[in-house]
Amino acid sequence: MDSNSVSCVVEARGLVREFATRGGPLVILRDLDLCVRQGESVCIMGPSGVGKSTLLHILGTLDEPTRGEVSILGRNPFEMTDGDLADFRNTDLGFVFQSHHLLPQCSALENVLVPTLVAPGTGQEKAERARRLLSEVGLSDRADYLPADLSGGERQRVAIARSLVNRPRILLCDEPTGNLDEKTASDVADCFVALQKREQVSLILVTHAPWFARRFDRVLHLKGGTLIPDGKSSAGLFPPGQTP
Ligand SMILES: Nc1ncnc2c1ncn2[C@@H]1O[C@H](COP(=O)(O)OP(=O)(O)OP(=O)(O)O)[C@@H](O)[C@H]1O
Ligand SMILES: [Mg+2]
Repeated sequence: MDSNSVSCVVEARGLVREFATRGGPLVILRDLDLCVRQGESVCIMGPSGVGKSTLLHILGTLDEPTRGEVSILGRNPFEMTDGDLADFRNTDLGFVFQSHHLLPQCSALENVLVPTLVAPGTGQEKAERARRLLSEVGLSDRADYLPADLSGGERQRVAIARSLVNRPRILLCDEPTGNLDEKTASDVADCFVALQKREQVSLILVTHAPWFARRFDRVLHLKGGTLIPDGKSSAGLFPPGQTP
């Protein structure tokens, strides 16, 4: 990719994703471009079925594009060996999904610690970081609770703490407040915004909620397979100062 690419921690150029269907290829992403800088928060919106999760899966290295280039932290994830890719995902990327995916038999603290099992560092350092993150999401008194004994919002806050425990450079979130009532969703959104700024992680988040989207540096709409900058903000498809 060109020299402009250096400051993009996440970059997609000419991304295409087609699915083979009985009726022929179904094109979901069509010549899509994106650049996200370190520490930037970008919200992706769009109607159901437009391809938001498809895009997030590709940026999260969980799915490969049909065509086009993807660079994450300057590397092409799809040229890595399976082992390197698994390490890269665990260390540099954090994920939060609509459903929390916590391990039911593990406590909140143990769930936060799961990604650290194959990461460097001492057990004590990891436990201290996990406890601090739990405290920052307001759950210091719930560290020993099993997921079944936590509320939906509390479970999602555990998932946020877990996503950040390895200090990832990039956080990818697919409708993380989608299953929560308005007040709980708002509390979880507060958690995201505060932690994202403090950890200086680049955040790419999908939401249907306009009130949440307003809190991001940039809002992009997925339409016709490509991303379109939000008409209400001056921010474009690329960060300020970045020419495509
Ligand atoms: N493996 C697949 N094979 C065929 N079609 C697929 C496949 N995966 C996704 N699709 C289709 O691609 C389209 C986009 O799906 P995607 O899950 O990305 O939408 P979305 O924007 O995340 O929607 P929602 O807001 O409902 O979560 C859908 O029409 C879906 O049916
Ligand atoms: Mg989706």
